[in-house]
Amino acid sequence: MDATVDEKLASKFATEKDSPYTRWVASEGLDIISGLYVPDLRALELKPWARREGYGVFINHDASRTSNDCYVCMIPAGGKLAPQRQLFEEMIMILDGKGSTRVWNDAGHEVTFEWQAGSMFAIPLNTWHQHFNLSGLEPAKFVSSTNSPPVINLYDDVDFVFNTSRDFPGRFDGQEDYFAAKKETKGLLLDTNFVPDVTTLPLISAKERGAGGGHIRFSMAKGSMNSHISEFPVATYKKGHRHGPGAHVIILSGEGFSLMWPEGEEPRRYEWKTGSLIIPPNLWFHQHFNTGSTPGRYLAFKHETVSIRNAQGVPKAWISRRIGGDQIDYADEKPAIRELFAEALAKSGVSPAMESAYEAELVSLPPLPA
Ligand SMILES: [Fe+2]
Repeated sequence: MDATVDEKLASKFATEKDSPYTRWVASEGLDIISGLYVPDLRALELKPWARREGYGVFINHDASRTSNDCYVCMIPAGGKLAPQRQLFEEMIMILDGKGSTRVWNDAGHEVTFEWQAGSMFAIPLNTWHQHFNLSGLEPAKFVSSTNSPPVINLYDDVDFVFNTSRDFPGRFDGQEDYFAAKKETKGLLLDTNFVPDVTTLPLISAKERGAGGGHIRFSMAKGSMNSHISEFPVATYKKGHRHGPGAHVIILSGEGFSLMWPEGEEPRRYEWKTGSLIIPPNLWFHQHFNTGSTPGRYLAFKHETVSIRNAQGVPKAWISRRIGGDQIDYADEKPAIRELFAEALAKSGVSPAMESAYEAELVSLPPLPA
């Protein structure tokens, strides 16, 4: 349900509808797509982005103005974007092409690194940065998520956000290997500011989300916006769960569909393939199904508003609903879910490979509440 109310109630909030962030987005002169589902990020129509000297489109989800936003940007063949610095954080994944990014600060520290389709990195807070397309023939395209909305709303001064001289040496100090691909992990976290190719990055086993998946987490450039990659095997699906707004789920490989639904309503179905974007709305349940012949892998750009945590700091989306969490155990899902999955697999001639996941769950399944 879209929760649309009558004009009388709507008019009472009319003055709060706009925010410094929404006014700034409008002033950039680009289209805004309502975030929830984008079938193919690479196929989006981009408009000239005069200030950045490229092309772009914004994607704003239902709570963008309080958490994080998303945009797709194209650098024409042989081109470069204008240099920019910003008092908000940004995470980038390259969709197409190859290029380089120069990052520098007022102290004169400077690092340049190269990227290609599949590379992922973060822009350290308030560093100057400039992106270059290294191909004279092909455009370069990237998708980005930032926490600009709360920052722009807080200061309501775009000049301050984009034009303040202040280094944050704790975030970036010009280390030569700052954007080198590091391999050290701490628990599920990969301690790096750069991933050369998210589609081939080795993952760590994570059984808690169902069906023997792989997982890896990032917290790049000492930023506050975390992200993760998740992969699930052929003919499997993940457990349904819900969380706060702001997870931008970018499909890196595979084929399948996601169900999303607000509590008490029927699931809605969204087909995905490489390049699709799914943004589960605030507290909607959602569940991802792999119906293709290869593992399904996605990257989720997030914001702390996504994570509703228990007192131990564990996201409730990882915890069974039987003990008050926000994850639906396989044992508790509606039979229609399994039927839908079996039907979709039959179409592609694949048999479900979920039995071992159902069995594995029973070992540690909490009892149903009385
Ligand atoms: Fe999720």
